[in-house]
Amino acid sequence: MILGIGTDFIETARVGRAVAKSNGFRKKHFSPAEIAYCEGKRGKAQNYAARFAAKEAFFKAIGTGWRGEFSWNEVEVVNDRLGKPGIVLRGRARDFCRKYRIRAIHVSLTHIKDYSSAVVVMER
Ligand SMILES: CC(C)(COP(=O)(O)OP(=O)(O)OC[C@H]1O[C@@H](n2cnc3c(N)ncnc32)[C@H](O)[C@@H]1OP(=O)(O)O)[C@@H](O)C(=O)NCCC(=O)NCCS
Repeated sequence: MILGIGTDFIETARVGRAVAKSNGFRKKHFSPAEIAYCEGKRGKAQNYAARFAAKEAFFKAIGTGWRGEFSWNEVEVVNDRLGKPGIVLRGRARDFCRKYRIRAIHVSLTHIKDYSSAVVVMER
């Protein structure tokens, strides 16, 4: 059963500027694996921005929006060997999803130069 969906659309340059300006922003919002993935990409602002959008979309899909109860970097986007993205949860975000018996989270990302977007679907 689908519990929720979330979507977000974001200006790539906004995230790109924040990431370039502050290592603190990067570490607060992205996991080490996400940072490694994005830093390995040529247009890395797009990859960071799409991941940021995925986290926002995740918070929408659980129905609360971001209210400070989870850390941004507890919601991690990982890519499989074909490039397909998925979401891995850690810490409080993982505990929350266990409590509400969320059994699958689907995510899709897209990015062009100026805009990046994500959709998340959550099943229980
Ligand atoms: C996978 C594919 C759909 C990505 O589309 P794209 O327009 O190149 O790029 P988008 O910005 O929309 O999407 C990129 C995201 O697709 C996702 N993606 C990559 N491979 C994927 C796969 N196998 N399954 C699902 N999603 C995938 C990734 O999340 C990627 O972003 P990330 O690297 O930041 O994680 C694309 O590479 C593809 O297969 N296209 C087929 C058509 C084609 O080759 N057209 C070219 C001529 S127009």
